[in-house]
Amino acid sequence: MEKVNFIKMEDGTAEEYLFLDKLEDEYKKDLPNKIIASLERLEDSLSGYQISRLDHVLQAATRAHQAGESEQWIIAALLHDIGDELAPYSHSEMAAAILRPFVNEEVYWVVKHHGIFQMYYYAHHSGGNRNARERYKDHPFYDSAVRFCHEYDQNCFDPEYESKSLDFFKPILERVLDKPLAGDAEHQARYGS
Ligand SMILES: [Fe+2]
Ligand SMILES: [Fe+2]
Repeated sequence: MEKVNFIKMEDGTAEEYLFLDKLEDEYKKDLPNKIIASLERLEDSLSGYQISRLDHVLQAATRAHQAGESEQWIIAALLHDIGDELAPYSHSEMAAAILRPFVNEEVYWVVKHHGIFQMYYYAHHSGGNRNARERYKDHPFYDSAVRFCHEYDQNCFDPEYESKSLDFFKPILERVLDKPLAGDAEHQARYGS
């Protein structure tokens, strides 16, 4: 089979869906390469800073690596701004959605909220509330998000810093993305996790 015959999903056969599932599995295996390609496009995202967004996330991931953080945190640092290309109004949520199947609750929550925690460092200069993150002050991952932004985000714009390359992080990315721990509601309904 090269293609299914149906033009409405309700007419598909078990054999056709088995065929599509196999192709989907192959597609999923290529996810690390697709993420690398997306990170490479951050080279052209958000100009005006001393370094590109790609160099920013490489610096964040390198700092996390040097500090001995877990591989989940290193990849969280590497991917935290991957949404800057396509989700300028919700970049934190986009990164968190990509990471969600592969990281624990804390890493997911911190990436999802890093944008609002990051506001502490700049929002007051343009009339915003730098303490907007205080709405989460009783959350168990509040301190973790404060730390992530302080150690692996707001300080990662130094053009003199010597970051590791994307190639260096690729094997770590492949390991973290190797086994989805859980997907969204559709995935859970189909596969049980
Ligand atoms: Fe960000
Ligand atoms: Fe960032």
